[in-house]
Amino acid sequence: MRTHVADHPLVAHKLTALRDENTDSPTFRRLADELVTLLAYEATRDVRTEPTRITTPVAPTTGIRLASPKPLVVPILRAGLGMLDGMVRLLPTAEVGFLGMIRDEQTLQASTYATRLPDDLSGRQCYVLDPMLATGGTLIAAMNFLIQRGATDITAIALLAAPEGIAAMEQAFGAGPVPVTVVTAGLDERLNEHGYIVPGLGDAGDRLYGVV
Ligand code: URA
Repeated sequence: MRTHVADHPLVAHKLTALRDENTDSPTFRRLADELVTLLAYEATRDVRTEPTRITTPVAPTTGIRLASPKPLVVPILRAGLGMLDGMVRLLPTAEVGFLGMIRDEQTLQASTYATRLPDDLSGRQCYVLDPMLATGGTLIAAMNFLIQRGATDITAIALLAAPEGIAAMEQAFGAGPVPVTVVTAGLDERLNEHGYIVPGLGDAGDRLYGVV
């Protein structure tokens, strides 16, 4: 498994504002959106392409375009929805599938409550969006879901990750046949006893959409 922590002053600047407890929901949503677009640039470094012939006003030339099948972007509901626009801004031709997962706050176990995904993901590059890679339970369950449907290459994009979550992902996918990459804006210190990332940014879903 490959883990990439974005190392860029603009990412660090936006992440600091995102973490601040005084940042209101509209600003939080905008910052999350901007951060994802910056992370998407890094996450799509290995997106599959194919050569294509075009003619410029001056001469014929060969360029590249995104290969088929198109990449699939999968936001994990609900908080991953706050990352969708920022991602498809960079990959407008990607298809979008949805996976609803909820974490039991006592056991920290993730379960699936909604899916809208192609049945066959053979040969698809998948980009999974989940703002917080905490214990890794939700993301591991989501990735296994995609692998069972045939996904052959998965990149997870998280605004923040905890070392415990990265270790769990490494254990789950490190030796597996499907290449897995994690791209995040920050690798924090640890999880607290409630499974929250420290220092983190609190509950990403609540900060995006309110406590509902
Ligand atoms: N989910 C969140 O929203 N925040 C955390 O810190 C951990 C999991």
